Amino acid sequence: MFEGFAHVWTPVALASRLGRAPVRVTVAGEPVVLFRTAGGAPGALIDRCPHRGVALSLGRVTADGCLECPFHGWRFAASGVNTHAPLNPDAKLDLLSATALPVRRIGEMIWIYTAPGEAAPVEPVVPLGLDGAGLSRIYVERDWACHWTRAMENMLDSPHLPFVHRRTIGRTLRRRMTTHSRMEISWEDTDFGGRATAILDDKGPGAVLEYFRPNIMALIIPVPGRHLRIHAVVTPAQAGRTRLTVVGSRDFARLGLLDPVFGWMNGRIADEDQAVVESSGPEEVPPPGAEPSLATDRATLQFRTYYHHHLRASAA
Ligand code: FES
Ligand SMILES: [Fe+2]
Repeated sequence: MFEGFAHVWTPVALASRLGRAPVRVTVAGEPVVLFRTAGGAPGALIDRCPHRGVALSLGRVTADGCLECPFHGWRFAASGVNTHAPLNPDAKLDLLSATALPVRRIGEMIWIYTAPGEAAPVEPVVPLGLDGAGLSRIYVERDWACHWTRAMENMLDSPHLPFVHRRTIGRTLRRRMTTHSRMEISWEDTDFGGRATAILDDKGPGAVLEYFRPNIMALIIPVPGRHLRIHAVVTPAQAGRTRLTVVGSRDFARLGLLDPVFGWMNGRIADEDQAVVESSGPEEVPPPGAEPSLATDRATLQFRTYYHHHLRASAA
């Protein structure tokens, strides 16, 4: 299960999608059903009934917050435990469980741990902008036809800004750079992943981005004394499909009136990337060393190393 993306925490959906009906999401090729339990906390199960393999997401959530299979009505709690097998009063329910996944609601997103079991060995490390108090957040979602590693490394790639984003977030860089310009990328390992700083022609402070393993980037936009960040949450869906959630967070101009403006801008930035990312081959990013690289590829090579050495062989 979750081949190439196992034993990690990942956001999988906006919490606003969780209403009365269960929701199916595909994460790294695995169908997962999310639902709201009686107390409002999320539940996550592999979206396959243990009885006849039916999608539990076609069922309903019962008044006591269990998920009822649409076929023969078996009911499952968020723990996966079977609480009812209709018409079979003698059934041994403890042998009839569904497969539960660790799940959390954090800020306005639902996260799962990509391994079945009662408990995850660690809690998710969450960027401040996705969870911090006193912040306004806006969400823009996109589905890209690419392997998630292509989308992820694009988010860690500073030297594409003055080209792909020459009219948006790369505009200043584009204006400042000359034929002789040099971009220095420094990389600092952190316990959550790493921090990359890009400096053009020795003129600081430079743009800072943080990488939260395995699949989140936070771009820290320098506004003195203010919080302004753009996050890219890159969730593998099925083969060749990636769900991108762009989350903007800010601690100023918090009137909701401005949300459409920030949302439009973040959507536009994502749309600028799409064709370039989707055209990249091979489908999945190759190991470091497989393609020619330059000094400005430092952050993306860090990602390739992590992916090929740690995540790619993972399975649950
Ligand atoms: S297939 Fe789910 S109860 Fe039979
Ligand atoms: Fe980009």
